Amino acid sequence: MSTELQSELHQAVELRRNFAIISHPDAGKTTLTEKLLLYGGAIHEAGAVKARRAQRKATSDWMAMEQQRGISITSTVLQFAYRNCQINLLDTPGHQDFSEDTYRTLAAADNAVMLIDAAKGLEPQTRKLFEVCKLRGLPIFTFVNKLDRPGREPLELLDEIEQELGLQTYAVNWPIGMGDRFKGVFDRQQQQIHLFERSAHGSKEALDTVVDLGDATIEQLLEADLYYQLKNDLELLEGVGPELDLELVHQGKMTPVFFGSAMTNFGVELFLKSFLDCALKPGVHNSSVGEVPPTYPEFSGFVFKLQANMDPKHRDRIAFVRVCTGRFEKDMTVNHARTGKVVRLSRPQKLFAQERESIDIAYPGDVIGLNNPGVFAIGDTIYTGQKLEYEGIPYFSPELFATLRNPNPSKFKQFQKGISELREEGAVQIMYSTDEAKRDPILAAVGQLQFEVVQFRLHNEYGVETILDLLPYSVARWVEGGWEALNKVGRLFNTTTVKDSMDRPVLLFRNEWNCHQLLEDHPNLKLSAIAPVLY
Ligand code: G4P
Repeated sequence: MSTELQSELHQAVELRRNFAIISHPDAGKTTLTEKLLLYGGAIHEAGAVKARRAQRKATSDWMAMEQQRGISITSTVLQFAYRNCQINLLDTPGHQDFSEDTYRTLAAADNAVMLIDAAKGLEPQTRKLFEVCKLRGLPIFTFVNKLDRPGREPLELLDEIEQELGLQTYAVNWPIGMGDRFKGVFDRQQQQIHLFERSAHGSKEALDTVVDLGDATIEQLLEADLYYQLKNDLELLEGVGPELDLELVHQGKMTPVFFGSAMTNFGVELFLKSFLDCALKPGVHNSSVGEVPPTYPEFSGFVFKLQANMDPKHRDRIAFVRVCTGRFEKDMTVNHARTGKVVRLSRPQKLFAQERESIDIAYPGDVIGLNNPGVFAIGDTIYTGQKLEYEGIPYFSPELFATLRNPNPSKFKQFQKGISELREEGAVQIMYSTDEAKRDPILAAVGQLQFEVVQFRLHNEYGVETILDLLPYSVARWVEGGWEALNKVGRLFNTTTVKDSMDRPVLLFRNEWNCHQLLEDHPNLKLSAIAPVLY
């Protein structure tokens, strides 16, 4: 490899950080994203992200549904710079628009920021997303938000994270008061207090007044009880809490915790600085030829998400590729591992919210959007040089099931084509009954919206009106060892066996309890919540 390319790649990797935010709706993800972009200079006034969303709703009818429901279906990748670093924020759709894409995006992320509402603590969607991060061993950075409002005791929140998620915590900063009496945070590394000044919605960077702990003015600045409480808390943290151990953080076993208020910008910059210091840089990826470092001189990457018809004028599709190694260049020719075809990557795109900009060069850790006239599927690897293939992206355990009927026989072909293309795109998982007489596909999803998207698109793009009948299941498990293992155990109760699109057996249960019961009755049966590998 030329030393020039080597040093270029090395430098690009050193300066790149890539992460996704995991949170429950309303914890403040949009607000925090906006504030991070504000510090990154990508926007100049907070409010722009929401404004863009509103604008998009007004100008695009990719999904009149988006308008009808007032939500954002499409996720985006936001790139911004802070200090010398290039930061890629992979936006995970997370509201009612929760879907498998949310999980898949985590397959392209190197780090996760877990955003928690201080009054609510851990919430269901956060827990689910955490499980996916854990599976991937992602480092997790916690931001406890909304300290300007009354919330739960900080120690209690740390305890909840430790007990429920099994993560060690290290509080990087510590809040002083809360709600009306929120005075700021104490930075444990620098041993300084950052004083909070209330500002309306923090449309600009927050003023940061910093006082050293030893400063004589502190006792005047803080009311006696808050000062006393801070000293007590710090003693407790120093006494019983572990030290910050970056190795454990990088293994996803310890989470650095930050406290702040995204709305008022408070604590956001402190968080960003420390995150950039501690986060994992783009690293090695497992592949068919072993672990490949990001500085490997040939280009390679994998498709983690497909998106159709973002722009109704073009009816186009975009494949989102996470760059893993080498340097991506516009118009380069690459090999497509699954099909063995050679593909020219013209018109690559970077996405900022919904606006597209053409990109010429990208490095490991970046995400590029490629036009996809049906060439790419989720999990596909593209590469130059020696053949390599990245580990696929698994199917995630669906929780909602429904049969989909096409009542109009003359539309049979369009229906089949639509279902097959939407499945390939990863819009929804498709399963079938083992009873040959029941030919209607079973849609399996992690979020309700996926059903709506499928029906909407079948109608809009394939001209097929469909009828959806919800099924009473909420748990799906793949059978390890396939049909052979399943046939060995004989008749099973309180479960329905179906097959996935790769003909593998899947057991559907009404609830977790039935699933546990079955495992107790058949200790030799091994079930998995996640299918081994996709496509
Ligand atoms: P999400 O993307 O995670 O769903 O959350 P989003 O940022 O939309 O925030 C949800 C609500 O919480 C918003 O209020 C937002 O202003 C508020 N919020 C976010 N961060 C903070 C914070 O640090 N402190 C306080 N007090 N509130 C916060 P909203 O009333 O739904 O919207 P808006 O009218 O404020 O825009």
